[in-house]
Amino acid sequence: AKHLLGIEPLRPEAITTILDLAETYVDLNRSDTKRSNALSGLTQINMFFENSTRTQASFELAGKRLGAVVMNMSMATSSVKKGETLIDTALTLNAMHPDLLVVRHPQSGAVDLLSQKVNCAVLNAGDGRHEHPTQALLDALTIRRAKGRLHRLNVAICGDIAHSRVARSNILLLGKMENRVRLIGPPTLMPEAIGEFGVEVYQDMEEGLRDVDVVMMLRLQKERMDGGFIPSEREYYHRYGLDAAKLALAKDDAIVMHPGPMNRGVEIDGEIADDINRSVIQDQVEMGVAVRMAAMELLARNLHAEPA
Ligand code: CP
Repeated sequence: AKHLLGIEPLRPEAITTILDLAETYVDLNRSDTKRSNALSGLTQINMFFENSTRTQASFELAGKRLGAVVMNMSMATSSVKKGETLIDTALTLNAMHPDLLVVRHPQSGAVDLLSQKVNCAVLNAGDGRHEHPTQALLDALTIRRAKGRLHRLNVAICGDIAHSRVARSNILLLGKMENRVRLIGPPTLMPEAIGEFGVEVYQDMEEGLRDVDVVMMLRLQKERMDGGFIPSEREYYHRYGLDAAKLALAKDDAIVMHPGPMNRGVEIDGEIADDINRSVIQDQVEMGVAVRMAAMELLARNLHAEPA
């Protein structure tokens, strides 16, 4: 493939290829050198039109550890503020001959549109409520390492599913790898066309968490609620916040995940988030660098492949 725009078009074998290469980068990142030349001579531009801590930092580190020239566009001080469109900004940067463009945008479909206008490889770092493919890949690597497999697992994704690109990409990936996905949350935070996902839906945490292997918590994404119903945080924590009593219903060795940013005391109890026997939240961050290294290396290989 030329771009990484979503999980939807990926075949299971392609997912496994990315995860297997990422494993080698986990080892490299734990070594003293932390350095490869896989992207040597290439230019990577990161364009984040929405806030980010984990994704932007890890894409930057990933590119630098692979030897690329990495530039972070500061969108807050760019000419976007003077009315320049997304496409004009992309065409301007395209004229500077980047090889890899990493893009986050608040509108679903914006990254796909941009990819059709440029010559380089485009990686989707999150578009609206549509997809966040590298997040699902890093979650998959975290699960595979913690559970020893990435199939026949019961995974609960809990909370604000409707506004979550993380949930959407994870549902797609986990389904392709033959896992059972349960969505748990209030009806107001469930997507309308839930049937198309092939998942089980629960409104009740006590019911939905029973015997799951993986508990994935999501933040209330108020920035995408468009003036709609926003639940009270106190009430939400009571019903849907992950605390010790609710987690006790999952399997004894169930892992707890969260893509971040986390709101402690809203969707998750702080002590559970910090419990290294259950929580793999920091592992997810670590896997994020390795997965982004692998994804960029594989796209860069295609960049230089001779047409068949
Ligand atoms: N998980 C995630 O996308 O985090 P950031 O918004 O901080 O990049």
